[in-house]
Amino acid sequence: MQLTLTRPDDWHLHLRDGPLLARVAPHSARSWGRAMVMPNLVPPITRLDMALAYRRRILAAVPEDSGFEPLMTLYLTETTDPDELRAAADHPQVQGVKLYPAGATTHSDAGVRDLARVEPALAVLEETGLPLLIHGEVTDPAVDVFDREAVFIERHLEPLLQRHPRLRVVLEHVTTEEGVRFVSQGPANLAATITPHHLRLNRNAMFQGGLRPHHYCLPVLKRERHRLALLEAATSGNPRFFAGTDSAPHPRRAKEAACGCAGIYSAHAAVEIYAEIFEQAGALDRLEGFLSLFGPAFYGLPRNRDRIRLVQQPWTVPERIDLGDDELVPLAAGETLRWQLQPVAD
Ligand code: NCD
Ligand code: ZN
Repeated sequence: MQLTLTRPDDWHLHLRDGPLLARVAPHSARSWGRAMVMPNLVPPITRLDMALAYRRRILAAVPEDSGFEPLMTLYLTETTDPDELRAAADHPQVQGVKLYPAGATTHSDAGVRDLARVEPALAVLEETGLPLLIHGEVTDPAVDVFDREAVFIERHLEPLLQRHPRLRVVLEHVTTEEGVRFVSQGPANLAATITPHHLRLNRNAMFQGGLRPHHYCLPVLKRERHRLALLEAATSGNPRFFAGTDSAPHPRRAKEAACGCAGIYSAHAAVEIYAEIFEQAGALDRLEGFLSLFGPAFYGLPRNRDRIRLVQQPWTVPERIDLGDDELVPLAAGETLRWQLQPVAD
């Protein structure tokens, strides 16, 4: 059996920088046409010139004939100049502004502590139509880590959409039933990305026979009922849910540590994993919408013109991906996947 699909886009991706960028970017460029590249570098990508320079470094890291197009994001801080956002909104290579609540995740220290302080910036986004991409978790230490998304929606996202009814918002890597419900019932200018790991795993995967740091990410994996809600949303054909891998490489030494980093690497096989999940859900006919059509429709961008081919041919995911001085343990390491990507002969 085989499937030919419009080339998909990854609407949430961490590519890092320097030698790590050179190792991981080709994995994404192999299957995805475009990727929304997250700006949480050190220092964060807070200005248009930084985003454009980063974009050039990404293009230098992928094969020239890959056709891969990085779409850039700016990192919103409490000192972001609204004029910088106006300039970004006019630039076709920038397609989003990322909101990290300060302290919520990897490299989010420069993020937003008090949403009131970014009101002028949000007003510019609402006016220009440049989407706001939200890491939707509260950082309040009194809130249980598994509840941080649901509480964020109630405390911050709902009021924010009321204050800015025309703001285009993507709730990134939605992980809960509450998140799915909020997006499904929300306005057309609200969408969500769903990762392959939140579709494939529930929180038991973090504790399978011991502590499993390679299954630790943020937002953290949730209970089975939440995974089922995500699966239902992804395979429903509702165009406001689309693919965003949140592939987030951290070298093994940084994951297997007393304070291990959050992030799951999936760029090596994300398309194949999504395909397997949709097949198991009996929803292969909805895969193309989720991977390739709904994202561009939300962002007001054209669909990719080229195609990819997936064939049903089992293969084993490598246990590790070499990084020279360290290695990555990828999602589904050592496991057998059912689908394989093959070049399309036009
Ligand atoms: C991401 C990273 O490592 O940059 N980590 C993660 O667990 N997803 C940051 C993020 O998207 O939260
Ligand atoms: Zn992310």
